[in-house]
Amino acid sequence: MKDFESFRQEETGMSAGIVGTGSALPARVVSNQELERLVDTTDEWIRSRTGIESRHIAVEETTTSMAVEAAEKAMKNAGVTADEIDLIIVGTVSGDMHFPSTACQVQKEISAGNATAFDINAACAGFLFGLAIADAYIRSGMARTALIIGAETLSKLTDWSDRGTCVLFGDGAGAAVVQKKEEGILSIAQGSDGAGGGALTCRDRENSNPFMTQAMMNTDPDHTHMNGQEVYRFAVKTVPVIIEKALEKAQLGPEDIKFFLLHQANIRIIEAVARKLGQPAEKFPTNLQKCGNISAGSIPVLLDYVHQEGMLQKGDKIVLAGFGGGLTFGAAVLIW
Ligand code: UT7
Repeated sequence: MKDFESFRQEETGMSAGIVGTGSALPARVVSNQELERLVDTTDEWIRSRTGIESRHIAVEETTTSMAVEAAEKAMKNAGVTADEIDLIIVGTVSGDMHFPSTACQVQKEISAGNATAFDINAACAGFLFGLAIADAYIRSGMARTALIIGAETLSKLTDWSDRGTCVLFGDGAGAAVVQKKEEGILSIAQGSDGAGGGALTCRDRENSNPFMTQAMMNTDPDHTHMNGQEVYRFAVKTVPVIIEKALEKAQLGPEDIKFFLLHQANIRIIEAVARKLGQPAEKFPTNLQKCGNISAGSIPVLLDYVHQEGMLQKGDKIVLAGFGGGLTFGAAVLIW
């Protein structure tokens, strides 16, 4: 029996692909030296353990304003109008409102009245999971032109007195326009490990309804907590496996891939994945040095950089791979 994926490809004779990208970063750049004045850390520790030198932190910007800026740039780059967009998906864990969703706020700001818009929470794999949904919508005929955005203001979820996490994260947004394309997304492999989710958490506001006792109420806003070593081990073990799975589905090997664009959490994770795949580090572009970890924004911001720098030619094969809170993980193989 044929698998669903090949059935769909035959049925429509088409796949979905990225036709434009855009990104937005806050104006304020915070260096490691500035963090030395906030917590007990050093530039040397941060660089050697993570590769990060500085990050953009939102002062004037919001999750929605960055998502809108990235979306408008991606639409311009793709040459599509707001009227053509019929699906908007935002991957985020740091929207400005509980509701409306960031996607609905973007829809309003860019006047994309024909779109269905919703957010997804897949943490650092949010862009990749959004891409998988758009791929399925487009192949099944439910959408024609999708806007997929990863946007985060992690600085508001950060405990700025916790040196174990505050040096890692940055703010920003990246977007891609996805449309039907003769050749585009070749395969996607995804997974989740809810049982391991305790390694990376940020609790929401707790229930404090009038029927609870005072002792049960806890309305203090929580911050990001991470067991760094556990997440590190999970990433190094899972990411090569999910990339190999996606490559196998696409009937390709790692040697066929021009660039692997990985979630930008730690240079040591990226180097370990490159070693496990037997591929040279040059095939793994990075921007974590200047951006830190932007969670769902990380992959699309990097993709936009690589695209705008002219590093991608038509026909190049690339891999996008994300992992993070949930735990969630996924990889996509694309022809540019
Ligand atoms: O996007 C979500 C996915 N997140 C990730 O992928 C993160 C994965 N984890 C990591 O990248 C790494 O585990 C970290 C960068 C978070 C930490 O690096 P590590 O090499 O695992 O360090 P560690 O947690 O084992 O800490 C080593 C030492 C500790 O001190 P002791 O106990 O050895 O005295 C920490 O207290 O480094 C200390 N430390 C710091 N020292 C200076 C932790 N943070 C800092 C800091 N500056 N900022």
